[in-house]
Amino acid sequence: MSLYTKLSDMRTPFISANWKMNKGIEETRAFFSEFVSLVKDAKSREIVVAPPFTSLHTAAGIAKDTNISIAAQNMHTNDSGAFTGEISPLMIKDAGCSHVILGHSERRQYFNETDHLINEKIKSARKHNIKVIFCIGETLQEREDGNTFNILGRQITEGLKDISPEGIVVAYEPVWAIGTGRTATPEQAQEAHASIRQKLREIFGDAAENTRILYGGSVTAENINRLMECGDIDGALVGGASLKPDSFAKIVNYDIK
Ligand code: 13P
Repeated sequence: MSLYTKLSDMRTPFISANWKMNKGIEETRAFFSEFVSLVKDAKSREIVVAPPFTSLHTAAGIAKDTNISIAAQNMHTNDSGAFTGEISPLMIKDAGCSHVILGHSERRQYFNETDHLINEKIKSARKHNIKVIFCIGETLQEREDGNTFNILGRQITEGLKDISPEGIVVAYEPVWAIGTGRTATPEQAQEAHASIRQKLREIFGDAAENTRILYGGSVTAENINRLMECGDIDGALVGGASLKPDSFAKIVNYDIK
């Protein structure tokens, strides 16, 4: 199988923005007032934007009758209760989210989220029919130590324990490529994605052929085409380059002439 042969036509390209801790309500309105029309013809792909919690309701209101879905960047496992400062799955749904990003390396690194906790969050999201963008990825040290595939294997096996494949999108984000301008080469990304798909086959069986695996880490309008040519890369999770409507729209519209 060549690097550039798509294994399946069933995997609609999935392009998601992750705004991280950026943009208040007015900035969110300003973004969407430009972005909606720039991507309205991108029918052949799934488009998601993940604003911070405080902008979710505004974003979801604007995106309601468009081809754009809204994701939260995190959630608590419980539906409600005494968890000061936390946001529940019911609340993100109420705010208009259909998706949630879980397991992002910044949550793992700065907020001590473990594979076990991420697994609990995924179960909770799926119980409420919220689609999950499940992030995995190795650090530079882990890559240099030759542990990339062990780490990815562990994150997948533990993160997806007792989870069925419906509503799950996996995002491979090598930590060393996030916000650094240092993208994985298409060859490095494809190699990791192929190993992820192999692991998914062990867990999900044939459904692994239909599971989208996104690449994240310094994706731009300049490198999206080459990444999307790789057989096991089915989309992108975009940080920095998703903050401007025109640069994110160029990524969404990659390869549309
Ligand atoms: P950058 O695109 O800024 O490298 O961020 C990637 C990311 O972490 C998306 O979740």
